[in-house]
Amino acid sequence: MSAKLKTQNSKLKTPARNVPPRWRKEVERVLITEGRIARRIQVMARKIERDFRGREMVVVSLLNGTVMFLADLIRHLNLPLRLDFMGVSSYGLGTESGDLVFTKELRIDVRGRDVLLVDDILDTGKTMSRVLPKIQALKPRRIKICVLLDKPSRRTEDIKADYVGFEIPDFFVVGYGLDFAERYRNLPFVGVLHPHVYKQAGRRVC
Ligand code: PRP
Repeated sequence: MSAKLKTQNSKLKTPARNVPPRWRKEVERVLITEGRIARRIQVMARKIERDFRGREMVVVSLLNGTVMFLADLIRHLNLPLRLDFMGVSSYGLGTESGDLVFTKELRIDVRGRDVLLVDDILDTGKTMSRVLPKIQALKPRRIKICVLLDKPSRRTEDIKADYVGFEIPDFFVVGYGLDFAERYRNLPFVGVLHPHVYKQAGRRVC
């Protein structure tokens, strides 16, 4: 682990007692609190505003994991913008990114416009490496990638985000939109899932 990751890791460590009692059996610890997420999003929004001011902005959000991040981010963007969604999901209920299926296409015309592509987490980069060419084919003026979480240690594709909320180590995280087997998206914080949860589900985890 790099020195940088170590430092971030220790900053991110929050004791198990911070997990609300309802979730303690399934969530090992809170990795990023609701308050830290809120503060970080405000900082990200200010930067995005500076970069997109005066442009024809289209926010393209990838379903389903972006639900909370997107809602909190765009309410802090004091800019005129259009919003659309692209549905993309890896097959299966496991913890590994598998085959991707597109479940919803864009409806807004992005030609000549500045796209802010929003996702909850950049992990292997496989999702982004499939989504980017699809949007590029629609001839936007430019595309900037914005993610709440970045796990660079897992990257297999040559993809970098322009705006990153938190760089995190390789923990299996849930909450604030992120799921395991479609559960836990409603947690207001980002937490680390207890290994027994995904081991019980009989899934392979790196
Ligand atoms: C998750 C997440 C990202 C993607 C990141 O999506 O929302 O889109 O995986 O992983 P990658 O960088 O390894 O491709 P998922 O397919 O689980 O769908 P979801 O958004 O509905 O949870």
